[in-house]
Amino acid sequence: MSVKTLKGKTPTPCDALVLFGATGDLAKKKLFPALYNMSLHNALNAEVIGVASTRWDNEQFRANAFEAIRERVPNLDEAVIADLNTKLSLVVGNYEDPQVYQDLAKKLEGKKKPVIYLAIPPALFEQVTQGLAAVGITNTARLVVEKPFGRDLQSAQKLQESLEAVLPEVRIYRIDHYLGKESVEDILIFRFANSIWEPLWNHRYIESVQITMAEDFGIEGRGAFYDGVGAFRDVLQNHLLQVLALIAMEPPSDLTSEFMEDEKLKVFRAIDALRPEEVVRGQYVGYLDEKGVAKNSTTETFAAAVVHVDSWRWSGVPFYLRTGKNLKETILEVIIEFKHPPRMLFAETQIGSPNVLRFRLGKQDGVDIELMAKAPGDKLATIPVQLNVEFSAALGERQEAYERLLRAAMAGDHMRFTRIDSVLETWRILEGVINNETPVHPYFKGTWGPGKVDELVPQGWIEL
Ligand code: BG6
Repeated sequence: MSVKTLKGKTPTPCDALVLFGATGDLAKKKLFPALYNMSLHNALNAEVIGVASTRWDNEQFRANAFEAIRERVPNLDEAVIADLNTKLSLVVGNYEDPQVYQDLAKKLEGKKKPVIYLAIPPALFEQVTQGLAAVGITNTARLVVEKPFGRDLQSAQKLQESLEAVLPEVRIYRIDHYLGKESVEDILIFRFANSIWEPLWNHRYIESVQITMAEDFGIEGRGAFYDGVGAFRDVLQNHLLQVLALIAMEPPSDLTSEFMEDEKLKVFRAIDALRPEEVVRGQYVGYLDEKGVAKNSTTETFAAAVVHVDSWRWSGVPFYLRTGKNLKETILEVIIEFKHPPRMLFAETQIGSPNVLRFRLGKQDGVDIELMAKAPGDKLATIPVQLNVEFSAALGERQEAYERLLRAAMAGDHMRFTRIDSVLETWRILEGVINNETPVHPYFKGTWGPGKVDELVPQGWIEL
């Protein structure tokens, strides 16, 4: 499973984008709007070929794609739709039938660098790549695979072996769409383009790090998928650990994807396997009645964990991670809690932590810093005040993650994708806690999850 570097070579740009699962949910919600934006920004210079088992003709396929775009993009530009109309077509067939791959190969004749995007259930990845290999498509194509990559360490290794039997790691692009978010990339800029943070960014000044991805909605009809996955595999193994790596990593020597991934890998390697007594699993009341969910399911819809990064920089600093469905609010944030000053001169009046830094990574992304100020009045008393910046107000529109990911894969840039060695490390970290052996605690919708989770964090979850 070696990773060969692409350094020094200019990747060939993609001339055909193939979307497996083209009539599915992800295509509708994310991929077609992303293609619209790419065309709007003159960045779609390839034919787009959908592959699906739904028996639509080209016209129906395009009509459905445009409807999906219209529902999600305000003030649509009809010239862009007209452009997409010339680019989109559909190949219909069952993924177990060799004919579908032969039909696709025919459509791809003369193309030098197709990108194949697997927006299909992970259970089908191996079958589809075998089908593609049988007709020679994998000899030149790049392959984009959606998460989760495997369901534990062993299955991820097995999947990788089956992919590497037909194409090398440098042509595999594993999606974690958080790596396409501008707000998440901003963590790197914040840390490494500003010199004021580095002296503070370690165990001497930081008390704890809290990373929260909470959603105030449930599984939205994805029961059949979600019940076999759960919150650890759906979010914590990938999105939350990737965000943690950006917070914890050392500065890379340059911005090539290899060097970036090397630094993230070092972080993952420094993390001990999660301990069952330091995780909390929860399930919202009513989950068992969801369509597609087993009546006696113990799948968690809430997961929290204490993560220890055993490195020189982070020794002794707990990273608290939590994620869940049907919680009180939709929030995606990182909170850095700084230590108290060595001498608490204003101890009598000081409430809470002295300084908190918050990265808001979801909608209305930005950064907040909580500082102590002098409270008005006679006394030398403290009061917290906030410095806030909202990026959309300060900087204008940001790009959507999926547009950036598609562009990167089509340009042959690995920067926003996960590398196999890191993915395997993240599964290793979760090994002891993903097999539903720890208790699952019920919680009511609209709360912050099971009360048990507060026991993980002695000083409490910080709210700004
Ligand atoms: C996906 C998960 O990867 O991320 C979903 O499968 C989750 O369960 C989604 O809702 C959240 O993404 P975002 O970008 O809205 O934070």
